[in-house]
Amino acid sequence: MRTFNSLLITGGCGFIGSNFIRFLMADRNFKGHIVNLDKLTYAGNPLNLSDLEKNHSDQYHFVKGDICDNELLQKLFGQFHFDGIVHFAAESHVDRSIYGPAEFIQTNINGTFALLECARSNWQPGQGLFHHISTDEVFGSLGDEGHFTETTPYDPRSPYSASKASSDHLVKAYHHTYGLPITLSNCSNNYGPYHFPEKLIPLMILNALSGKQLPVYGDGLNIRDWLYVEDHAKAIWEIIKSGKSGETYNIGGRSEKTNLEVVHTLCDELEKAAPAAQNPKLSEQGFSNYRELIHFVKDRPGHDRRYAIDCNKIENELGWHPVVSFSEGIKKTIHWFLDNSTWVESIHSGAYRQWIDQHYGE
Ligand code: NAD
Ligand code: TYD
Repeated sequence: MRTFNSLLITGGCGFIGSNFIRFLMADRNFKGHIVNLDKLTYAGNPLNLSDLEKNHSDQYHFVKGDICDNELLQKLFGQFHFDGIVHFAAESHVDRSIYGPAEFIQTNINGTFALLECARSNWQPGQGLFHHISTDEVFGSLGDEGHFTETTPYDPRSPYSASKASSDHLVKAYHHTYGLPITLSNCSNNYGPYHFPEKLIPLMILNALSGKQLPVYGDGLNIRDWLYVEDHAKAIWEIIKSGKSGETYNIGGRSEKTNLEVVHTLCDELEKAAPAAQNPKLSEQGFSNYRELIHFVKDRPGHDRRYAIDCNKIENELGWHPVVSFSEGIKKTIHWFLDNSTWVESIHSGAYRQWIDQHYGE
């Protein structure tokens, strides 16, 4: 089993990265030092981890910066002597990649390249571990049958998935060419606390509570596999501790749903947790339940129809299994959003951007 003294985590102020850092620090799962390097784009929120920065400054260190900045990367390596890199930082939203792909090429491809170069120049062959977080979207779109396995040929179809596919190939090439120790994981759709409300699940929860339309793309029958984010964090931790160098692991929730099923479940669970009849934002508009807010809108261009993950490899080799069922995870997620109205408000009002400017400058 690998152990680490000093981890560089990129993109730790985003949704999955902040859940991963929280998981590492909870119960002292990890006792070494963590440096979280994050550019704080619109999706990065340092408030996600501000308590750790305050209470665990001996173990956790935040650096505002860009993974494309070679000089900064070298400086951090020199200062902290990393023995592991866990690379989350990315532009992550498919819709944004359709309307503005340039940032995706820059961060996802060039940024991964910069990190790989820095690891190669600081580690002797065979030293360290570079774990790259990727997506099942690199495999393309499935018909009604079948699942993506680790050997499914890549067939990315959006600028986002093409940029992630490109970075995956670079990571694997550095292993084959330079002997850089790497592991890679391709995961299905995550959901849970700290999810930025541009993605399906948090967007629908917050729109519903505000009495806004719930925009379902196309016929709503596109299928995604859903995984509670804490299960993803545990899977990554197992891989970086015990995964075989050079190997890829698929991670999924064995929980395929159409988008419409997801939205119906959210509406019905919201009804129990925060009944529409008691919500003036709905009653004032004459709505009596959340499902009435569902609105079919124009489809996403090139919308992948179905993703489904075969995660037998990680289950059999590393003993990891998803433990939070979709119905349980959705309840936990809804309650998190209801209980964390300050976080939601800070995002909606842009207050966290002001906080960033005050604390870290522009
Ligand atoms: P996110 O958009 O919530 O967070 C991304 C983080 O990266 C933000 O904190 C942002 O500030 C930071 N960042 C962006 N560009 C940067 C740069 N140039 N330098 C430093 N930091 C930068 O994303 P997420 O949903 O947490 O996804 C994290 C990773 O997991 C991504 O690599 C994504 O491709 C992958 N992934 C996501 C999902 C999902 O369902 N969200 C599923 C599978 C894989
Ligand atoms: P999303 O959360 O953007 O993740 P991804 O595109 O990476 O799978 O979208 C999940 C699914 O929900 C996808 O099929 C697109 C659909 N969708 C909607 O129908 N309406 C929305 O407002 C959003 C954001 C997504």
